[in-house]
Amino acid sequence: MSLSEPREQWASRRAFVLAAVGSAIGLGNLIRFPYVCAQNGGGAFLVAYAFAMSSAGLPLLLVELGVGHAKRGSAPLALFRVHPRLEWVGWVAAAVGFTIASYYAVIMAWAVAHLFDAGSVGTWAATWESSRAHFFESTLGVSGGPWQLGGMRWGLLGGFVLVWAAVAAAVWKGTRTVGKVVYATVLIPWALLLLLLVRAVTLPGASAGIAWFLTPDWSRLLGAEIWLAAYAQTFFSLSVGFAIMPAYASYLAPDTDLTWSAAWICLADGLTAFVGGLAVFSAAGFMAAQDGVLVTEVVEQVSGLKLAFVTYPNILARLPAPGLFTALFFLMLLTLGIDSLFSLVEAVTAALRDKWGLSQRKALLGVIGVGALAGLPFISGAGLYWIDTTDHFMNHFGLPIICALECVGVAWIWRTSKLREHLNERSWLKIGRWLDPLVGVLVPLTLLGLAVHEALARWRGAYGGYPRSTELVFGWAVIGVAILFGLWATHRAWSTREG
Ligand code: PHE
Repeated sequence: MSLSEPREQWASRRAFVLAAVGSAIGLGNLIRFPYVCAQNGGGAFLVAYAFAMSSAGLPLLLVELGVGHAKRGSAPLALFRVHPRLEWVGWVAAAVGFTIASYYAVIMAWAVAHLFDAGSVGTWAATWESSRAHFFESTLGVSGGPWQLGGMRWGLLGGFVLVWAAVAAAVWKGTRTVGKVVYATVLIPWALLLLLLVRAVTLPGASAGIAWFLTPDWSRLLGAEIWLAAYAQTFFSLSVGFAIMPAYASYLAPDTDLTWSAAWICLADGLTAFVGGLAVFSAAGFMAAQDGVLVTEVVEQVSGLKLAFVTYPNILARLPAPGLFTALFFLMLLTLGIDSLFSLVEAVTAALRDKWGLSQRKALLGVIGVGALAGLPFISGAGLYWIDTTDHFMNHFGLPIICALECVGVAWIWRTSKLREHLNERSWLKIGRWLDPLVGVLVPLTLLGLAVHEALARWRGAYGGYPRSTELVFGWAVIGVAILFGLWATHRAWSTREG
């Protein structure tokens, strides 16, 4: 990027909103949200979630879109233009995003493997136990513990290469290709989700599952746990704090309505989570009715990834046309996830281009090459333990700290009044002074609260019941490397317009 070259631009605001929605909606909406909701008081959680979304999610999104757009740069450049000392926050965000990309591609490779196995789902997923063995033993080859490597899974490597190739194709020409691909990667999973929803709610027993999902346990609202869970889910789900939104907004035409775009992104994200929850719990209700057990008992088996990779195939195997529906289900997961993955890649690529004036192709090949190499260890038999640990640390320490610093920088150095001015000049939806205390004080304090809560939990015991050494390497050391990288990159000279 040289001085004479104008910054590239999205073909339309719709392309941008779709790309941002595509980044936000992902496995988090379909797998993480329903489970967290059910565990935290069902309908009561929806209230806490809506509150967290409007009091913290939307303000953070406005900060990220506003700063990227007004300062016309990826996270490091935009924050540098707010204050040179903030540049490293942008780099740490990009590094955390990059780390997530490296293992997100591995989870996608699991989905590719299941897509290829869909035809025989009737055999491998005939019972919950066999479905479990298929996932943990045949597909992942999970070893006995985090320090037993257990060898490379060559089958997964094939899917892994496919995933990265698809990402390269999508981001090849930056916004020009991304802006087209997102029509498919947002609309196809939504169409498939609706199809699965209709299939799920018409199953016998579905209503018991939905009741379990939505029955409010209002007393929960008095405890701290539900609020922590609601805020954590909001941040993860909106993809804020990973350098994505500033980069995407920096490619918008100068007069774009950012406020309305942000509202759309929040609405689409929340709605997808809700519809995903309905589909998941209808299916759980059906499974409970078939097995003659309580919905609670089914739900207890499906913490986290097991829901998508073990329980859902088992449910689909009991229905007519199991192969077809299983293929559609994993196709939905893949199309849901791929735009989250390439948004992470595009965020890092944009940052490298802004700093060092690289061409899109060079920066992209560099990011993909290093990202794929960094992902390789996660394909080993110990990969699942490592992914679990790294994911937890990125989301519970990396993200809150970055977002808090971003808010403080924008509110106290750039000033929230300037942000509001920038947003309001471009939108019929006017933001009032209420944003100032949120961005300047409340959101950073909430984020800090999340990080402190987590630090105390880690003080009491190592994450996930793994040996302490696992979190030292895959948690703390990864965060340390991200911070060192941020400091290093900040101390390099700009070879672009900041020169
Ligand atoms: N928001 C995505 C989801 O809900 C996950 C994600 C997080 C994607 C961070 C990109 C960056 O699944």
